[in-house]
Amino acid sequence: MPGSKSRRLVVLGTGTGVGKTHVARAVARALGQSGPVLALKPVETGAPHSDARELDALNPFPVKPHPLYALDPPISPHLAARQASQIVEIASIIQWISAQESLLGDAPESWTVIETAGGVLSPLSPAARNFELALALEPAEWLLVAPDALGVLNQLSLAMTALAKLGRKPDAVVLSSPPPGDASTGTNAAELSALGIVDPVACLKAGDQDVAELIRWLRRRGS
Ligand SMILES: Nc1ncnc2c1ncn2[C@@H]1O[C@H](COP(=O)(O)OP(=O)(O)OP(=O)(O)O)[C@@H](O)[C@H]1O
Ligand SMILES: [Mg+2]
Repeated sequence: MPGSKSRRLVVLGTGTGVGKTHVARAVARALGQSGPVLALKPVETGAPHSDARELDALNPFPVKPHPLYALDPPISPHLAARQASQIVEIASIIQWISAQESLLGDAPESWTVIETAGGVLSPLSPAARNFELALALEPAEWLLVAPDALGVLNQLSLAMTALAKLGRKPDAVVLSSPPPGDASTGTNAAELSALGIVDPVACLKAGDQDVAELIRWLRRRGS
């Protein structure tokens, strides 16, 4: 990353509404205790683009434009872009992110937290999914967020199998519990582990903003 010493955390999801923004904000706040943090949402569908606004509230300076691709219909990014006669270009996203990072300069302990739109294999264009965007953002830590809810054993089995086949697994998995939860909430992390699907690094209960375990894990990765 020329011009910046920022480390990147790419927040991927097993789907939409799984807790990516909740986790991204909590992580950005926690990392912000030790250095400057940028929290970015390059592509957002569904006006009024509240994820970008919520993330931007944590930034040391207002990021403009944010999101880079502000697509109004609440549908898949590739389709919303097509309806707006646009194409979501990975190269433009990288350029936009790098430009923001360069404003952070050489500050030590700086991070860029990047929330993707929808699920890890959601299409951004006919040519690229969030997976390809995450690859283009390397070197980066990949955090896969999944809901602590019924269905997550299947969702994470599918995601981990597909990502292994694609040759790049997430570096960490975090569960988040959108309220009100269900009968499985609280059981899923242990079951994912016992079934050999994945060992989640952290599980955020409803209302929980405590990402200390995840931050420790990130610091260990960097040392
Ligand atoms: N641990 C949690 N505690 C309280 N609320 C949560 C938690 N996790 C998620 N939520 C809530 O669940 C809803 C969906 O979460 P969130 O918006 O973070 O999902 P997302 O993956 O970012 O969705 P999108 O795909 O639309 O970007 C939000 O209202 C959020 O506040
Ligand atoms: Mg979100």
